Amino acid sequence: MQIVWTAADLEEFHGGVCVPTMGALHEGHLSLIRRAREEADAHAAPLPVVVTIFVNPAQFAPGEDFARYPRTFEADCTRAESCGADVVFAPEVGEVYPQGVEAPIDPRVVIPEVARQPGLEEKSRPQFFIGVCRVVHRLFEMVKPRAAVFGEKDYQQLLTIRAMVREMALPVEILSEPTVREEDGLAMSSRNVYLAPPQRKRALALSKALKAARSASSVAEAESAMRSILLANQVEIDYAVVRDAHTLMPIESLALPARALVAGRVGPVRLIDNMAV
Ligand code: PAF
Repeated sequence: MQIVWTAADLEEFHGGVCVPTMGALHEGHLSLIRRAREEADAHAAPLPVVVTIFVNPAQFAPGEDFARYPRTFEADCTRAESCGADVVFAPEVGEVYPQGVEAPIDPRVVIPEVARQPGLEEKSRPQFFIGVCRVVHRLFEMVKPRAAVFGEKDYQQLLTIRAMVREMALPVEILSEPTVREEDGLAMSSRNVYLAPPQRKRALALSKALKAARSASSVAEAESAMRSILLANQVEIDYAVVRDAHTLMPIESLALPARALVAGRVGPVRLIDNMAV
């Protein structure tokens, strides 16, 4: 496996399957890389698998954890290689944003409705999807992949990227993989390392709440069951909702494909999770 830092060194890997990450790779990311390998090998001449590692300053608000975001580059490269990556692309900020991160976003980048309307992640983190769309578009410009794999753990992000690619008519197929969970149900996240043991226990309330939502028979019942479980575990709720699985807008009944989504703080850590209902 190669490690490259510049877009110029990526030329031989164009047309491959890309897994964009911010590093601190855990089993969730590894499932994305394995999926990318499978997709790449399904072609008569196997395509290259490109893992990008870039902690994107544009998607962190001031006061968020950009500076202390876990950085484990060497271990990440070993893991990426063991899952079949051909190259790790780890650009510097100046390579991704030659005009500087403070420069205005490329006006071609579309921030789709699903990133602006539902009142979920974008409500507490107004810059987040602008930063995500900006970096994913830029990474695609440099990696020129045929396909890219994202996790369902960041469900609104996945829908946002799908919509951006569709609305901008970018020639990239967006693939997704289910959330990988610890044995007790906690969704894997690079931020779980911030949880002290008692908080780690309380964090289980997120997946328990989502499971309760799945067995409810109405939206109202599901949302109230989620809130009680989260509150009983002192999770400071940001949202605990059941929404249309495609638009993430509110729904009245569970007739259409729906998604339960939760976000909240456990101690200093903001966690999110979601499940189909
Ligand atoms: O999900 C992530 O790790 C990031 O938001 C992404 C998609 C790599 C963009 O920085």
